[in-house]
Amino acid sequence: MQCNALHEAGYDIVVYDNLSNSSHEAINRVSMLIGQPVEFIKGDIRDAESLKKIFSAHHFFGVIHFAGLKAVGESVAKPLLYYNNNVSGTITLLEVMKEHSVKNLVFSSSATVYGDPESLPIDESSKRSCTNPYGQRKLTVEHILEDLAVSDDSWNLIALRYFNPVGAHPSGEIGEDPNDIPNNLMSYIFQVAVGKLDKLIIFGNDCPTVDGTGVRDFIHVTDLAQGHVAALNYLDKQASLNEDSMTQNSVGFLPINLGTGKGTSVLELVSAFLDVSGQAIPYQFTDRRAGDIASRYASADKAKTLLGWQAELLITDMCQDTWRWQSMNPNGYNVS
Ligand SMILES: NC(=O)c1ccc[n+]([C@@H]2O[C@H](COP(=O)([O-])OP(=O)(O)OC[C@H]3O[C@@H](n4cnc5c(N)ncnc54)[C@H](O)[C@@H]3O)[C@@H](O)[C@H]2O)c1
Repeated sequence: MQCNALHEAGYDIVVYDNLSNSSHEAINRVSMLIGQPVEFIKGDIRDAESLKKIFSAHHFFGVIHFAGLKAVGESVAKPLLYYNNNVSGTITLLEVMKEHSVKNLVFSSSATVYGDPESLPIDESSKRSCTNPYGQRKLTVEHILEDLAVSDDSWNLIALRYFNPVGAHPSGEIGEDPNDIPNNLMSYIFQVAVGKLDKLIIFGNDCPTVDGTGVRDFIHVTDLAQGHVAALNYLDKQASLNEDSMTQNSVGFLPINLGTGKGTSVLELVSAFLDVSGQAIPYQFTDRRAGDIASRYASADKAKTLLGWQAELLITDMCQDTWRWQSMNPNGYNVS
């Protein structure tokens, strides 16, 4: 998705991924959609030598840093893995970037850094606190980026705090293909729809929300991808301004929410899915889990003001595109 959006915006891209949660087939499909091969290098962000080779071979403007593990449960069971992969990996990447004077970074942060919000909608100045190791490591990386920006004002570091990304490419060719039980609600719903899972387990129907189920700010991955393009364009504009003037204005550390600003409950999402697909999803309520947050949605004003970006797509688009992806690819990228 992101490669397509960057390609359409005129950026040349190199994809670097260890394929721990992705596949060559996804890269093949992106190449097919954009009509030319995507330059792909299999490698790990913890491998400094491999990164150095790539940074020496290219003249990069910046890095969009998505690489990381993202399963909350796994982060509780294997905390050292999350320090190692998500934090040490980021430090290695930043060191190599510094060595090659590449100082523009867009980092995939998360709304999870807000923990249980004190008020809604959540803006970027809201208190940050996390209850699980996955979120805490996102926060650790944000702190690293903040320290880096203070230490050296030539860094331009945008942390995009995603709310709840869902959906798939409208072609139905690219979508989420979790290696294990899906971590996000939309994938879960659709895996029930295609019969891979029996039913949807809904954690709690006693939240102080419109229908008692949890409320989240779902954002279409197409909008999310455009948010990254807008962030890169912003960094590009800042770089051009600096070239044209005698003074250096660094972006420093800039956190920005990527959300729609609108909350949707779990039952509203299930109902939207029924409207789109004609397929009912069996579900069962169970107790809320410790630390589950009743309601979370973004203030999306900063992204609009600074980046000129706002989400365009609706819940029905998110359901339609995910349904198309799931229907066309019941086994994900496993085409054999
Ligand atoms: N999907 C969400 O709900 C969500 C929400 C907020 C933030 N994020 C963050 O956005 C980023 C992308 O998320 P996604 O949903 O596309 O997940 P994803 O698992 O599809 O993408 C992460 C990619 O990083 C790769 N990777 C992991 N560790 C690596 C390493 N050490 N070296 C190289 N590659 C490595 C994986 O193979 C995978 O392709 C992640 O950092 C995630 O934490 C995701």
